[in-house]
Amino acid sequence: MLQGKSILLIIGGGIAAFKALDLIRRLRERGARVTPVLTGAGAEFVTPLSVSALAGEKVHQDLFDLTAEAEMGHIELSRAADLVVVAPATADLMGKMAGGLANDLASTLLMATDKRVLIAPAMNVRMWDHPATRRNAGTLRGDGILFVGPNNGDMACGEFGPGRMAEPLEIVDAIDTALGDGPLRGRHVLVTSGPTHEPIDPVRYIANRSSGEQGAAIAAALRDLGARVTFVTGPASVPAPAGVEVVAVETARQMLEAVEAADPAEAAIFAAAVADWHVTGASDQKIKKDASGLPTLGFAENPDILATVSQRDTGRPALVIGFAAETENVVENATAKRARKGCDWVLANDVSPETGIMGGAENKVHMVTADGVEEWPRLDKHEVAARLAAKIAEALG
Ligand code: CTP
Repeated sequence: MLQGKSILLIIGGGIAAFKALDLIRRLRERGARVTPVLTGAGAEFVTPLSVSALAGEKVHQDLFDLTAEAEMGHIELSRAADLVVVAPATADLMGKMAGGLANDLASTLLMATDKRVLIAPAMNVRMWDHPATRRNAGTLRGDGILFVGPNNGDMACGEFGPGRMAEPLEIVDAIDTALGDGPLRGRHVLVTSGPTHEPIDPVRYIANRSSGEQGAAIAAALRDLGARVTFVTGPASVPAPAGVEVVAVETARQMLEAVEAADPAEAAIFAAAVADWHVTGASDQKIKKDASGLPTLGFAENPDILATVSQRDTGRPALVIGFAAETENVVENATAKRARKGCDWVLANDVSPETGIMGGAENKVHMVTADGVEEWPRLDKHEVAARLAAKIAEALG
């Protein structure tokens, strides 16, 4: 797969930069061409001579290098490769990428490229857990940047936790996958996400606490495997990922309409937190405080989108997946929900406030299928999404 492929490898400034040397060797062994770029900080950890000797190519270091610019401009350099890889990707490089900064060669190449970008983050565990890095990682994933690692483990700084760069062979595998066609290439999948808003009047509505993060992560993971994704989303606080077809809706009834109008899909994942009820007789005008006293709201049940699609006679996706947000008897309730709604898989999660899952970065999933229950460890929502996307690819064959 790597034979004859061209990789632009950006080496950032971190202790893990020494592993980039091994990565170059592994890539070349497999027949890939590696064009190395060394950041200023990267050059503090590995020498341009070692990088260049292993790559068998000139190392690019300077944005304003006139000789290099005359030979091959930085725009061309960013586009000549089949894939751009950043290893190690430091907190600083991730911040620059997320912020759209282009003040040195590496960041300029990352802004100018039209190719996919795979990053292998490496940093101290506290830097990885810092809200700024969490935010930047979310932005980058949303922008379609591929990640490999970081792994858990002992770190050079003496701490333990996530932040260790993925091993060179893991990076090689991720490069292989990124250059591949993707197991879902040519497949159409539908994802619902976010909360719904059910209007009371033109300015007030009933909503729920869903951020839309899990749904957005699932859509991005499916896109990363090559799928064409229709993303039907309520008013979420997390932005929709790049590279998916976004259909923005507000109410449950609009969500059902959008789902019905979408092209036939081979898999449908219902991650939206759909309101169970809407307000009957919502007012066209803002309801005023007046002498007639407190307003009374009437409710009617919303259509169950997951059940409607699961129970279709024709055009049912081969794989229909629902979520079950529960606060007690998680597996029992999810198993019953799977049978009641007629979907194939239910991903059940405990949304009791003490779990911090609703609106948080992590999720703890029990996957309920016809074959039983599979318990997943507590994972970052992006890891849950990647795991689910891989299972969907496997099931669709
Ligand atoms: N769902 C849907 N349409 C609805 C309600 C829910 O498509 N009107 C989907 C959700 O996207 C999710 C699954 O159904 O995939 C489970 O939703 P949940 O709210 O947990 O279940 P309910 O059917 O509301 O059951 P309960 O009220 O008993 O929790």
